[in-house]
Amino acid sequence: MSRLFAGAGFQVPESPLVTEVADLEVMTDLAALRRWRTALHDPVHFVPTMGNLHAGHLALVDRAACNGAIVLVSIFVNPAQFSPGEDFERYPRTLERDCRMLSEHGCNHVWAPGVELMYPLGQQQRFRIQPPSGLSSGLCGVHRPGHFEGVCDAVMRLFWQVRPDRAVFGEKDFQQLLIIRKLVEDYAVPIGIDAVPIVREADGLAMSSRNQYLDLHQRRRAPGFYRTLADFAERARHADPGTFQSLERSALERLEKLEFHPEYVEFRDAETLGPATGRNDRLFAAVRLGTTRLIDNVALTRQNVAKLEN
Ligand code: PAF
Repeated sequence: MSRLFAGAGFQVPESPLVTEVADLEVMTDLAALRRWRTALHDPVHFVPTMGNLHAGHLALVDRAACNGAIVLVSIFVNPAQFSPGEDFERYPRTLERDCRMLSEHGCNHVWAPGVELMYPLGQQQRFRIQPPSGLSSGLCGVHRPGHFEGVCDAVMRLFWQVRPDRAVFGEKDFQQLLIIRKLVEDYAVPIGIDAVPIVREADGLAMSSRNQYLDLHQRRRAPGFYRTLADFAERARHADPGTFQSLERSALERLEKLEFHPEYVEFRDAETLGPATGRNDRLFAAVRLGTTRLIDNVALTRQNVAKLEN
């Protein structure tokens, strides 16, 4: 039996396909979420998502499901983290398919708030969280101004709504992960943050909801992005950090030859995102392939180079 949970006076959205999903509770208002949360004694582990789930998200759910915890997945396409002209409008919204995947994966609790519930004062008037510039102004922050502020805002609201014991984030959005870790530390939020390594397609492409924007020709070329990063991460592993700038330039040239439009390719310290030190660095990059923006990152350690299919 499937259920759509809503509180008194709340207009349940017409969504017959969601109600078909077996054993899944989709909560859409705060009163229902609070009733559900208050009744629980087991720890709640939380996976915030924007939906359009894939195996990368399911890996987060698997991590969340450890130690008998109750897993709650949120699905909310957060307008505050998209800049004007980005893909907010066309971002795939596939709630019933997502619910089916979660249900088949043994996760039976979904929190799907609407925009008005998330931002009751309106998006312009909302309170805002400004992440520290050291973590948020470089890398993706250069190309997506306001993005991490919007992420922090949504995540903090979701944390207050759900009050989980732990929350799980993917390493594909590594900069986001570090910023969330700092956010909970700085505000003393009593929620543990867990990280899950990037899940890749067999050819190396990092899983992402945006991969489906790629046409067939672009999809064939896309793995060249990860292969290039893996190659340069491997070279850097044996090199002096003093040579990293020239490796970054060569990686940019290689990506351009492969007909990507790189936004950045940078070695950074994996904890502070400051300059690489040669101790615990990662190679971070973003490219455009047609109109699709792809991001990826690779640690400078051998075990992070995935085995690829040709
Ligand atoms: O990583 C995402 O999907 C989003 O940035 C998040 C964390 C759900 C916030 O909207």
